Amino acid sequence: MFKLFVLLCVLALASAELQRIKIHKSEHKRSRHHVRQEVRSLRHKYQQLIENYVVYDYGQPDYGNDYPSNSEPDYTTEELGNSMNMYYYGQISIGTPPQYFNVVFDTGSSNLWIPSAQCLSTDVACQQHNQYNASASSTYVANSQNFSIQYGTGSVTGYLATDTVTINGLAIANQTFGEAVSQPGSSFTDVAFDGILGMGYQTIAVDSVVPPFYNLYEQGLIDEPTFGFYLARNGSSEEGGQLLLGGVDETLMAGDLTYVPVSQEGYWQFSVNNISWNGTVLCDGCQAIADTGTSLLACPQAVYTQINQLIGAVLIEGSNYIPCATLDSLPVLSFNIGGTTFDLPASAYISVFHDEGYTSCMSTFTDIGTDFWVLGDVFLGQYYTQFDFGQNRVGFAPLSN
Ligand SMILES: *[C@@H]1O[C@H](CO)[C@@H](O)[C@H](O)[C@H]1NC(C)=O
Ligand SMILES: *[C@@H]1O[C@H](CO)[C@@H](O)[C@H](O)[C@H]1NC(C)=O
Ligand SMILES: *[C@@H]1O[C@H](CO)[C@@H](O)[C@H](O)[C@H]1NC(C)=O
Ligand SMILES: *[C@@H]1O[C@H](CO)[C@@H](O)[C@H](O)[C@H]1NC(C)=O
Ligand SMILES: *[C@@H]1O[C@H](CO)[C@@H](O)[C@H](O)[C@H]1NC(C)=O
Ligand SMILES: *[C@@H]1O[C@H](CO)[C@@H](O)[C@H](O)[C@H]1NC(C)=O
Repeated sequence: MFKLFVLLCVLALASAELQRIKIHKSEHKRSRHHVRQEVRSLRHKYQQLIENYVVYDYGQPDYGNDYPSNSEPDYTTEELGNSMNMYYYGQISIGTPPQYFNVVFDTGSSNLWIPSAQCLSTDVACQQHNQYNASASSTYVANSQNFSIQYGTGSVTGYLATDTVTINGLAIANQTFGEAVSQPGSSFTDVAFDGILGMGYQTIAVDSVVPPFYNLYEQGLIDEPTFGFYLARNGSSEEGGQLLLGGVDETLMAGDLTYVPVSQEGYWQFSVNNISWNGTVLCDGCQAIADTGTSLLACPQAVYTQINQLIGAVLIEGSNYIPCATLDSLPVLSFNIGGTTFDLPASAYISVFHDEGYTSCMSTFTDIGTDFWVLGDVFLGQYYTQFDFGQNRVGFAPLSN
């Protein structure tokens, strides 16, 4: 009886325990080349939601009108400082015995994929990273279906596999994911992560694969179908942030979460009452998507033009720069979400790059051709963000530090 009681207590403790996953920040330096690449990737990511979207052939510039082709060399070797990093990632394992991978926990997509040991020898990104070897896993189940996900520099392609996926010690049985045999271009070369773990709704999952978080909850490994992100903006790679699975981490919040309903279950999309800057209303009722997989802040084209003009930005080689001397005097950008005001200081919406003794200040407002906003780490890094599948809502709270 006592043994049973102890066992029940242990079980209760185990199930009530919140699963905190340490997130790392990339230590790679961010260059303007990376920013342009990210803009391209972002366009492809939201392609299905963009009206009149034009798909260019691989290799062709798809930056839009702001980026005349050939007029600018690629700044692949240019380092612009690491005061602001591009992505956040954490460790998972796949298979039995475990094979380890670093993945970006991306709320803007819904598939898990990692490089395959079967990848092409010419696939530079794959050769640089951890590869999943299905034959080395006793829990691997073959799946004949192919998968293909479009990114800025082409498609990541391969086939589906099913195996045990372990996140923070929680072993998800029979998780289907993509084994990438081909990762074209340079989107995934020289990055600290091996693959991507999508945390959006199944409705946008390629091949309708059930996302890991769904199985995590359905297999009873977490108590609540909700997760929260804290993305540190100024941490080292050791203090990149935290992803909490299965509950709400109130210890990182300085106030209550303001929740808004998900307006369309696919991305984490919601309505924003208004967005204003120094008295100018930039949006009066608009849609936004909370995307931990991008560093940028995308807005509709008209707003992109307007806000960059308001902050005094000048377009140079496809990017908008402000005189750094004005940074401290720029007003906040105010979002009214669910009746609460969330301010974004200029230090958040302007990126400062230090480059060989030269400092430049780049606007993070980006036009990717959407009529909605995409709130990447620029916004999410300022607030604690909760993603609640149970009640289909997104919540934001001020950070405690
Ligand atoms: C995959 O694992 C099997 C079994 O351990 C091994 O024989 C094979 O060489 C591995 N393949 C690669 C590409 O590492
Ligand atoms: C998967 O892709 C390969 C290589 O492109 C192709 O040969 C094969 O027919 C595809 N299989 C399915 C089931 O579509
Ligand atoms: C996983 O799949 C195997 C074989 O299909 C099945 O026996 C097992 O019950 C499944 N486990 C879960 C947790 O779904
Ligand atoms: C990061 O912290 C350091 C030391 O506190 C500070 O000097 C620097 O301005 C901060 N950088 C950003 C981007 O907040
Ligand atoms: C923004 O929306 C809130 C809530 O509807 C409203 O109280 C506020 O007046 C609006 N602000 C602007 C600048 O329109
Ligand atoms: C903000 O608005 C005030 C009042 O209209 C104006 O005087 C000021 O120049 C504006 N600030 C900026 C940075 O545009």
